[in-house]
Amino acid sequence: MSDTTELTEQERDADLSAEQLQQLVGLVEYDAEKDPFPVTGWDAIVFVVGNATQAARYYMSAWGMVLEAYSGPENGNRDHKAFVLRSGSIRFVIKGGVDPDSPLLDHQRRHGDGVVDISLEVPDVDRCIAQAKKAGATVVEEPHDISDEHGTVRLASIATYGETRHTIVDRSKYDGPYLPGYVARTSTFTKREGAPKRIFQALDHIVGNVEMGKMDEWVAFYNRVMGFVNMAEFIGDDIATDYSALMSKVVANGNHRVKFPLNEPAAGKKKSQIDEYLDFYRGPGAQHLALATNDILRTVDELRKEGVEFLATPDSYYEDPELRARIGEVRVPIEELKSRGILVDRDEDGYLLQIFTRPLGDRPTVFFELIERHGSLGFGKGNFKALFVALEREQDIRGNL
Ligand SMILES: [Fe+2]
Repeated sequence: MSDTTELTEQERDADLSAEQLQQLVGLVEYDAEKDPFPVTGWDAIVFVVGNATQAARYYMSAWGMVLEAYSGPENGNRDHKAFVLRSGSIRFVIKGGVDPDSPLLDHQRRHGDGVVDISLEVPDVDRCIAQAKKAGATVVEEPHDISDEHGTVRLASIATYGETRHTIVDRSKYDGPYLPGYVARTSTFTKREGAPKRIFQALDHIVGNVEMGKMDEWVAFYNRVMGFVNMAEFIGDDIATDYSALMSKVVANGNHRVKFPLNEPAAGKKKSQIDEYLDFYRGPGAQHLALATNDILRTVDELRKEGVEFLATPDSYYEDPELRARIGEVRVPIEELKSRGILVDRDEDGYLLQIFTRPLGDRPTVFFELIERHGSLGFGKGNFKALFVALEREQDIRGNL
């Protein structure tokens, strides 16, 4: 068995311990030797946005991220600006077109602000691509090296749902700030006095929304192409409200660092939130990123101070005797959760606390979740219905229900 106490470089740099990671994102042991497409963990989440200069500032001020690298016209990239931001073990790359003919601007025009690349760190790019080809995946970029004075990175890309891709990266022979073409850069932005060192420590999962009838195809894609295993499964009534319904299945890489719930809309009386996403994103794409925190109460308080808005949870959620009985004892009084709108779910392994933001950009598409795990390896199945009632209330206000 491989030793999951072995941390990635990004995790070591973030001063995270194996115990913390186990708690934060639910790591498990597995044998990478037998994996046809071994994935170590997340490499970077690449966003394309309408205004990267201002979005980067938002992720620094509201989400406590730290600028560490940059690419743009000043260092020879005349097409776009890209800001590399970090929080704990996770890296976001925020890109925006500068040249009016930049393909990034076409992407943003179609999809709005969104995730274009869920980039993963792998020990062997060529082995993964050989497996991907054998399993029938679309290789967008063949394996190739890029180098600068910091060394060499080997990478390749495969297509996933919609216009999203997975770039797989082996950076074991590279010690630059991100990739060749990027320069180290810090920001003059200073955090508010008393602000926490970080708002979140790691990335727990990224949910993909796909079209009706396509969920099982994408589950099979991750099984067949990338050797991902199936986790919890939610179908039908579990997550149906009067108006909307969806189906959701979860796949994860061997060590469970990378978890992908996949949603598809199911027939309901009215348009579901997944349909609303698909309409406004113009097709499948990444719906939400779940950020792992070890203190969700403080995190929510800090984010609210910065003006981040969360979905409102109805008071009835906390007063429901069935829910109270099911969740049992958690680390804080329910009143503390109620005052912040934090949701609780429990399964046989433990419990989790979670909360969802409103959409991050102008379109009702991408949003964040904050998650604090206490043993539970779930995704908040018990909260789906309560959450969807809240989501639909807002969808109705936007006139899209
Ligand atoms: Fe989630």
